[in-house]
Amino acid sequence: MKVALVVHSKTGHTLMFAKKIEEALKRDGHETDLIRLDFDSPQGDQPHGEKAQVTLKNAPDCTPYDAVLAGCPVWAFSATPVIMTFLEEARGLADKVFIPFVTMGFPFKGWGGTRAVKMMTKEAFEKGALTSPGRIVMKMGHKIDKLMDKEAASVAGELKKR
Ligand SMILES: Cc1cc2nc3c(=O)[nH]c(=O)nc-3n(C[C@H](O)[C@H](O)[C@H](O)COP(=O)(O)O)c2cc1C
Repeated sequence: MKVALVVHSKTGHTLMFAKKIEEALKRDGHETDLIRLDFDSPQGDQPHGEKAQVTLKNAPDCTPYDAVLAGCPVWAFSATPVIMTFLEEARGLADKVFIPFVTMGFPFKGWGGTRAVKMMTKEAFEKGALTSPGRIVMKMGHKIDKLMDKEAASVAGELKKR
């Protein structure tokens, strides 16, 4: 499969998760492109809230891919406006396998992670994507390296089934 990993990451944790997923997919012979979203916003590098304005500079066209994996940190119990802007504006998502992934500071998925992946899944579903369960890595109280490896292997397993 040709897989796009599209990631918003401010301080590098979600990017690290994306890289681990990419490594797992490459081991299975998939072709991957990892794109870290770059953007402008009047709110600087942390656009947040309902009225956040984000102009993406390097959003990929999803048309050439078989699967699109989108990742971001959890901000205020939500997916970030940066990744949501990508999904809202995305072209070529219909009929593509879609898997969201997030990292979060708090120790429980219910403290923002579950809601964040739901927001991303809903948007991709409305664009006709074939959505799969989101992957969530919590930092507090967990060995994030091990959690990321486990979730990366799970994503690779999911794509094998497709
Ligand atoms: C503005 C802001 C809001 C945040 N809100 C949450 C939250 O609601 N729940 C949570 O678990 N972590 C929250 N965090 C922590 C980040 O989700 C966490 O540190 C994440 O791993 C950072 O990812 P990054 O290094 O890819 O930017 C927040 C961080 C910031 C900067």
